[in-house]
Amino acid sequence: MSFPENFLWGASSSSAQIEGGFDKDGRGLSIWDVKKPNPGTCSFHYASDFYSHYKEDIAMMAEMGFKAYRMSLSWSRILPTGEGEVNPKGIEFYKNVFAECHKYGIEPIVTIFHFDLPLDLQNKYGGWGNRKMIDAYLNYCKVVFENFKDDVKYWLTYNEQNMLIFFGAFDMIGGSGKFNTGTELYNQAHIQLVAQAKAIIMCHEMCPDALIGPAPNITTSYPATANPEDYIAALNMDDLRNNFYLDSLIFGRYPASVWKYFEQNNIVIDVQEGDFEVMKACKPDYIGFNCYGNDTTEYLEYYELDLSDLKDADNRDISYLMKLMDKPGVGKAVKNPFLPKNSVDGNTYDPYCIRITARRLTDRYNLPLIITENGYGRPDTLEEDGKVHDQYRIEHLRETIKHMKFGIEEGANIIGYCPWSALDLVSTREGINKRYGFIYVDRNDDDEVAKNSPMNRYPKDSYYWYKEVIASNGEKLD
Ligand code: BG6
Repeated sequence: MSFPENFLWGASSSSAQIEGGFDKDGRGLSIWDVKKPNPGTCSFHYASDFYSHYKEDIAMMAEMGFKAYRMSLSWSRILPTGEGEVNPKGIEFYKNVFAECHKYGIEPIVTIFHFDLPLDLQNKYGGWGNRKMIDAYLNYCKVVFENFKDDVKYWLTYNEQNMLIFFGAFDMIGGSGKFNTGTELYNQAHIQLVAQAKAIIMCHEMCPDALIGPAPNITTSYPATANPEDYIAALNMDDLRNNFYLDSLIFGRYPASVWKYFEQNNIVIDVQEGDFEVMKACKPDYIGFNCYGNDTTEYLEYYELDLSDLKDADNRDISYLMKLMDKPGVGKAVKNPFLPKNSVDGNTYDPYCIRITARRLTDRYNLPLIITENGYGRPDTLEEDGKVHDQYRIEHLRETIKHMKFGIEEGANIIGYCPWSALDLVSTREGINKRYGFIYVDRNDDDEVAKNSPMNRYPKDSYYWYKEVIASNGEKLD
C-alpha cells in the first residue's frame, strides 16, 4: 500500500515566525514583539516578510505541488487588543492569502493560535492562567469562524499546547514567566483544554462543513532498556507529556496516573461545573500533531516537584519538560544508541518517530492524523550561484517519509504531512539562521538590514526533491 489518494502533502509555518509587518495596517502587538531576542538572533518584527511576499511564496509552494499549507493566524492582526474592534485589514490579508492558496488548489490548514498571544491580553489577564481567557479565545474564534468559514476547511485549535505548558511558563512562548507552582501551571493547562473543547463545539455549529482538531507535540517514549521500571517511566512520561492533552479532548478525562501525579505534587485543579462535560461533548474530527523525534526514558526514584528554581528562567535546558525528563518518578531522558546518524552532518535523528507515534495514536483515538510539523533545522548556505545544497535535510525527510509509509502500511491513519517549514522563518529562540524551509529567505539575523532587505527567495535542493516526492505521491524518494 502507498500513500492514500488525496494525501495532503504540504508544509507548515506560523504567523509570528514568517509574517513580519508587525506594525503594519493596524496590527496590535503580541507577546513575541516585545520579547528581547537572544544575543545574536533577530526579533520577530520583520521575520520572512510573508506579509509582502505571500503571493510569490504561495506560487512557489504551488510549483512544489503542495496540496496543503499549514499556517496560523495572528490574533493581534485580527483583533489588535485581543478583544474588541476587529481590524478589517487583518481580515483582508488572510482572505487574500486563502484566495491565493485556493487559486492553486492548496488547502489551507489553519492554526487559530500559535503561541503569539496579543500583548494586551497578557497584560490584562496575565495570560492563560486566568479563566477569562476562555471567553477571550472563544470571542476570537467566533470572529475567525464568521469571517473565514467559506475559506477554510481544516482548523487547528492551538499549536503545541503541551509545549506551552512545558516551556511556556518559563520561556518566551507563553510570555509571563510568573508560574511558581504546579497548581498554577496545570490550571493553565486545564483552562486551555476547556477553552479548546468549547471552540471545537463552536466550530461545528458555525462551520458545519469544516473539520477541526488540536495540534500538540506528540512523541513516543522509548524505555531505555527492557527493565520493567524503565517501561514504567516511559508510561509516566507518555501520560504527562501526551495523553493528558489528548485523552481530555477525545475521552473527556485525564489519565489516572496524571491525577496521581497531581496528588503527589500537591497540584490542585480548579475544576468548575461543566468542565469535563464540555470536554466529553466536543468531538474533534482529526488530530494534527507535531513530531520531531521520540524520547528515550530511564526510571528514577520518586521525587518532589519543585519549580522554584525555574522562576523567570528563559532557557530551554532548565524548562519544566527537562525537569520532568530528568527527575525521578517520571524518567530521565537518555540518549538512544539505536538511532541513525545523518550521513551528511553526523547528527543523530529519529526517522521512526512519526511511524511509531502515528500507529499508537491511531489505535488509541481512532481519528485521522495530519503531521503538522517535523523537520530539520540547520544553518544553510546560499551559494554564489543562488543554490542551497541541503542534502542533510533531504536525508532526514527521505528516511522519515519512508518510515511514515511503513506506518501507513501497518495501519496508521495518516492523511497529511506538513513538515516545518514551507520557507525559512525565525526559530522560537535561535533566530533566522536555524533554517527549516524548502525555500531559502535571503536575510540574516541583523534586523536593521532585514528591515530594508528585499528578502529574495531561492529554492533549495530539498525544494526540487520534495516536488518529485509529491508528484509521485511519496513513491520517488531517492
Ligand atoms: C515547534 C513549534 O515546536 O518547533 C515551532 O511549533 C518551532 O513554532 C519549531 O519553530 C522548531 O523549533 P525552534 O525552536 O527550532 O524554532
